[in-house]
Amino acid sequence: MNYTITIQPANIVFNSSSKQTLLAAALLADIDLPYGCQGGACGACMVSKVEGEIRYPTETPPALQDEDIRAGKILCCQAIASSDVILDIPEIGTYKDKILTLPTRVADKKLLDDGSLELILKLPGQQIFPAYTANQQIEILAGAGKICRVDRLENNEEQHISLKITPKMTDSFVKYLFESLKKRDMLRIRGPL
Ligand code: FES
Repeated sequence: MNYTITIQPANIVFNSSSKQTLLAAALLADIDLPYGCQGGACGACMVSKVEGEIRYPTETPPALQDEDIRAGKILCCQAIASSDVILDIPEIGTYKDKILTLPTRVADKKLLDDGSLELILKLPGQQIFPAYTANQQIEILAGAGKICRVDRLENNEEQHISLKITPKMTDSFVKYLFESLKKRDMLRIRGPL
């Protein structure tokens, strides 16, 4: 059975069958949805569903929390259409392929002389990130809709990007980055901005 999937607000339309995930169908149609693990674990492929029915092959994937489900979020790498579906993905077609949402792993974490924190993040697989330019910013997606916007630092290591976090310790997420984040922890980022 084939269904029509529409991405708003760009009004991009593609078909997806009851035997493939929305991500697989989108990539086959050359639509560049963000994704990472493709196993339901990282949340990089999370988008908002406006209308329609989807199902997951087994249980609800681990990256999808109850509040995400209540907010109408789905994971495209696992979701299979059971009807025509409308998705809301503002970054598709607006920012085109310049802005990426990706899962990364913390490769290193260093305190800098000015008291700020440098995080070196490993990109997934062979993913290439757009080139560094001065004053570029990146968002760290902190979950439950919270976003931490930080500066990008120059880094010549392949498949790594470096971020500079200002010590704003009244912000609980910044405090977490300084005090609790460990090497190999996962962070979802979006950028460059
Ligand atoms: S790509 Fe990781 S949860 Fe879908």
